[in-house]
Amino acid sequence: EPPEIAGDPDTVREGRAEIFADKSNSVFFNKAQVNNRDLSIAVLRWFVLKRQEEHDAQLKGRRADIPPEQHADGLDPATTGSEDTALRKESSLKAPKVLEALAASGLRAIRYALEVDGIGEVIALDNNEVAIESCKRNIYHNGILASSKVVPHLADARIYMLTHPKEFDVVDLDPYGSPAAFLDSAVQCVADGGILMCSATDMAVLAGGNAEVCFSKYGSYPVRGKYRHEMALRILLACMESHAIRHKRYIVPVISVHMDFYIRVFVS
Ligand SMILES: C[S@@+](CC[C@H](N)C(=O)[O-])C[C@H]1O[C@@H](n2cnc3c(N)ncnc32)[C@H](O)[C@@H]1O
Repeated sequence: EPPEIAGDPDTVREGRAEIFADKSNSVFFNKAQVNNRDLSIAVLRWFVLKRQEEHDAQLKGRRADIPPEQHADGLDPATTGSEDTALRKESSLKAPKVLEALAASGLRAIRYALEVDGIGEVIALDNNEVAIESCKRNIYHNGILASSKVVPHLADARIYMLTHPKEFDVVDLDPYGSPAAFLDSAVQCVADGGILMCSATDMAVLAGGNAEVCFSKYGSYPVRGKYRHEMALRILLACMESHAIRHKRYIVPVISVHMDFYIRVFVS
């Protein structure tokens, strides 16, 4: 039996999750990024609802195409609003599968599992063994719901994403600094209709502090100006788009924000 959350002084609470404080600092945890995680949860909740609504609308359309006498319940949905259970069963929507590609302590993955109703499996990847061990402890500490949904996995995110094409409805990239090295594999890993969430903390580069580095990482030259944070968002989005298009895909920005010391974009 996993232990109950204890409110131990050696633990840190955020949202509904509690993780063990890592005194050695060998596993990344940034308290200041609580807004990043909160916003991501809000976007995920919206995504789960929107996906269900779109699925229901599609099902209604398909049912409307079937003559009433062929409906399983023999009733015309136009007059009764009843659902064709056979059709619904056949096309039931699977809970969205999430990849937290750079998981560290697993806090974000655990919060997604505990705080987003209707979420499916959350795979928490990290290429650091110490991080994955801490992730396992934290998942266990957060009880049965977290343990049943969050799966920790030691792997290089780039290889994992490349070898799981279009497998995840949600892919989350939250790297140290720049996400540039992960974008090409990430855009291939998201399922059609899915969402890619991406942070970048290398603001000095994106906001014009080092134009050459920005060009080499993102393919854009930044300019220094009052609008530099908005420009940083546009540079990241353009880079994501350029990777997507190489694989005959495209992006639609949903929310793009500059917060505290980083930027975060959500694209479908
Ligand atoms: C900024 S931390 C992630 C923080 C976490 N998402 C959160 O919200 O608390 C970045 C993590 O990415 C991991 N990482 C770096 N390169 C990686 C790679 N190629 N594959 C998998 N994990 C990687 C690091 O070990 C580190 O734990």
